[in-house]
Amino acid sequence: MVEIMKYAAHANLSHVKQKLVSEGPSGLLQSDELYNYGLMTSVYPREAEILKGLRDAIANHPQSYFATAPDGGQFIALLLKLLNAKKTIEVGVFTGYSLLLTALTIPQDGKITAIDVDREAYEIGLPFIKKANVEHKIDFVESQALPILTKLLENQENESSFDFAFVNADRANLKNYHERLLRLVRVGGVIMYDNTLWGGTVALADPSSAHPMRQFAWKDTIEFNKMIAGDPQVDISQVALGDGMTICRRICW
Ligand SMILES: C[S@@+](CC[C@H](N)C(=O)[O-])C[C@H]1O[C@@H](n2cnc3c(N)ncnc32)[C@H](O)[C@@H]1O
Repeated sequence: MVEIMKYAAHANLSHVKQKLVSEGPSGLLQSDELYNYGLMTSVYPREAEILKGLRDAIANHPQSYFATAPDGGQFIALLLKLLNAKKTIEVGVFTGYSLLLTALTIPQDGKITAIDVDREAYEIGLPFIKKANVEHKIDFVESQALPILTKLLENQENESSFDFAFVNADRANLKNYHERLLRLVRVGGVIMYDNTLWGGTVALADPSSAHPMRQFAWKDTIEFNKMIAGDPQVDISQVALGDGMTICRRICW
């Protein structure tokens, strides 16, 4: 999502930015009633107060829709528990909804390497992280993510040492992230990619009828989905949560 906003900023498409926000909360479900039913029934009653607090605090942030949706977040937390995840990587932190959720879910001695170019956004969520007493689990790195993943691989101890990775940024580099994360995440561990259905536009034969912002990274997303579908190094499932999430389980290869 961030890339399309960068595109909008670059092209001065503020009107388009507004349109994107008004796409509605239901996302791929295309029914606000059904989406709200799921939130009210299964998600909000179980969402930690501190996460709700963070969500409320950024509700008026101009890019509040960057944040992982609470239903997607609940799914991430479930996966983390199923994996007994302790050591994780997050690419794309923003104000930290998925980061705080991960920190709340992994054990006391767990560690998250959280990478984002934008420290200011991270600092908006930091008081919530501190209040939840989970800051000690977070190693925030202010940087482009790709060189950090490359650097992690320079230390052999990091190879196959992570249980889980969540990629929520920088669509143009998804293939490069995948190559590196496949070496960083252990066999049996999970790499999860967000926004893989790109507002449903990946099904279009030609993006010209799509929202202008969805035309950006449309090709990258389609190529990435094709690449992942053919990758024998992972089991996969693409779920229509949020903007589409692809879960990859590293298998022995
Ligand atoms: C969709 S938001 C992440 C949302 C976050 N997971 C949450 O739950 O709030 C994407 C973030 O990726 C960051 N970003 C974009 N390109 C990046 C890159 N190449 N390396 C690191 N971070 C990047 C942006 O600064 C932005 O904060």
